[in-house]
Amino acid sequence: MLKGKKIVIGVTGSIAAYKAAILVRLLVKQCAEVQVVMTPSSREFITPLTLSTLSGRPVLCDFFNSGSGEWHSHVELGLWADAMIIAPATAATIGKMAGGIADNLLVTTYLSMKAPVFVAPAMDLDMFAHPSTQHNLQVLRSYGNHIIEPAAGELASHLCGKGRMEEPENIVAALKDFFLAANSLAGKRILITAGPTYEKIDPVRFIGNYSSGKMGFALAAECAARGADVTLVAGPVSLKTPHAAIKRVDVESAEEMYKAATEAFPSCDAAILCAAVADYRPATRADKKIKRTGEGMTIELEANKDIAAALGRQKSAEQRLVGFALETNDGETNAREKLAKKNLDFIVLNSLADKGAGFAYDTNKVSIISNEGVTEYPLKSKLEVARDIISHLSRLLLVAVMLLLPSAVMASGEELNAKVTLNRSKVQSADSEVFEQLQDGITQFLNERKWTVNSYEEHERIDCTFGFVVENYSPDGSFTCSLMVQATRPVYGSTYNTTTFKYEDKAITFTYQPFDRLDFNEDNLDNNLTAVLAFYAYMIIGFDMDSMGDLGGSEWLNKALNIANNAQTLGDAGWRASSSDNNRYSIIDDYMNGALEPVRKLMHKYHRFGLDVMYKNAANGRKAVGECMTMLKQAYDDRSLSYFPKLFLEYKNDELLNIYSQGSIKERMDVQKIVTTIDASLSTSWEKLADDHTNQL
Ligand code: PMT
Repeated sequence: MLKGKKIVIGVTGSIAAYKAAILVRLLVKQCAEVQVVMTPSSREFITPLTLSTLSGRPVLCDFFNSGSGEWHSHVELGLWADAMIIAPATAATIGKMAGGIADNLLVTTYLSMKAPVFVAPAMDLDMFAHPSTQHNLQVLRSYGNHIIEPAAGELASHLCGKGRMEEPENIVAALKDFFLAANSLAGKRILITAGPTYEKIDPVRFIGNYSSGKMGFALAAECAARGADVTLVAGPVSLKTPHAAIKRVDVESAEEMYKAATEAFPSCDAAILCAAVADYRPATRADKKIKRTGEGMTIELEANKDIAAALGRQKSAEQRLVGFALETNDGETNAREKLAKKNLDFIVLNSLADKGAGFAYDTNKVSIISNEGVTEYPLKSKLEVARDIISHLSRLLLVAVMLLLPSAVMASGEELNAKVTLNRSKVQSADSEVFEQLQDGITQFLNERKWTVNSYEEHERIDCTFGFVVENYSPDGSFTCSLMVQATRPVYGSTYNTTTFKYEDKAITFTYQPFDRLDFNEDNLDNNLTAVLAFYAYMIIGFDMDSMGDLGGSEWLNKALNIANNAQTLGDAGWRASSSDNNRYSIIDDYMNGALEPVRKLMHKYHRFGLDVMYKNAANGRKAVGECMTMLKQAYDDRSLSYFPKLFLEYKNDELLNIYSQGSIKERMDVQKIVTTIDASLSTSWEKLADDHTNQL
């Protein structure tokens, strides 16, 4: 992810400067090119020699080299970099950055920087909490800089509190997330409405509202920064278009906004309706200025069209629609009504009851509400709020793409991100080269082969592990191996990965000689190793796709079933339908049996409506997981000899124990009953949980 990225690291005079050395080393290890720029005072804390040695480049401290007279161009650095990280950033440097006080090379480089800037503050807790520092950080946020919040802990002053520079590993993670997000909307078309509408009464007067357009423009800027093709339909505002790539359509009235939005939407992947559209307009408009008569007057109003509702009716299965709700009271109830009525995928609630939220402020405080739950955010700059909203939308669009994958035809990246290990401790052989070559060959086969015709981005590849243990080997190239294969997917919005497939295959036999080419032909399974690998590749993709959409993995699971069927004639170990042991054939045949459909369907519900929701709304997530367990029981009752309900519990048991360490005793007891009916060997772990849980409650 960071390979080849050009990063400027700015180091300032803080005791945390030593962490800059770790940061440089981590980035260089990830094959990034690093240029360090130091402030004069930072040299009191860490030497330029340390940082130049670690980065492999001379460190820049002054405007020019006093020996050679060579000029150090901050302008060139600003054009060269893909990102700048100021870590540690002292209160003094943050103040200079906010105020544009360019009295050292680091600040001039910052002012010339064209790339995104990350700031990792480090200072004493009172300095960090001081209104002046907080104000300066707020200014930097409003410039679009990313503030990496300091952690709480013991500080150099021996006081405890917030002010410790974030650990270098987490700074690198934030940078990676940023680059991942940077292209997350490439190729997507997004429509955004922003600002107020003005409904004319006569040539000099109108009905309008206080919307400044700032929130909508921040959303447009964020979408454009992530590579989307943005159409921004803007009501009358005095803001500049925030990104050169944005197509802006200026309108004045709700009627004009309706026309522009309904024309643009059919070719878009998503629309975000942030405009404060007037609900009513004068039924008639006077041609000439209405004269004052001294009497009262009545203006008859008629309803404007509801743009969001119109797009909600027009919306196709692949499109996503996001609305806003500006409320003064009963926020969530009103927002939920709008979510349903306008057929939105989610709605962003902001309330005028919250200080600093709503019209015209540079900040906003929002909650994202969908049928899956509610996520509340603290008061943030509108740019940061836009990032949160767009991250949420990106995930929905990713899921929409995944659901469509069976019909997509374009290959860009491979599907698997497989780590392969080959443990040969059980066999005696001096011939280490053959094992190394085999391991590399399998890794390459799994990762470089296209298993589907669909397009996968690098970050969408499925993480999986193939752990081989060599049980027998003879120098003629005959191998017997066991294999533990496992695949995971991220739980959206958390750092947690969940297992989607795990299976231990006890008997794989094949022959392999150094330099053998690993090849696979679906119609002619002449190589048992690649047949087995292809079988598991399709299983992993199929299970992953089942977790993304209802029965979404059928195409790939059928391929796995096809391989298992064809392998029957070969007589290789591990395939035989007639064998009493679990084997590859019986696993896939079982999973594709109609009676197991509730299990396939629960894969989707469990992951998308259970785990993905749980981190935002634990009760809703747990409710969906509980329903999934009922589905598992149904499949077990219908097909009690099926292997799969047991297999599912085998790899989800710890996760389930964790989930039901929270919630009510009844929830836990219902699930415990199902789990232990299907697999009595899990009783002990659930009884222990029951004891702990009861004590805790
Ligand atoms: O522009 P700023 O000063 O930065 O302020 C931002 C904001 C407060 C305007 C913004 O955050 C916001 O809340 N926008 C929506 C305001 C609003 O009109 O909310 P509403 O609850 O009345 O409308 C609900 C949704 O329907 C909104 O998505 C709105 O765009 C849409 N709508 C409403 C009426 C209408 N005729 N057509 C619509 O599309």
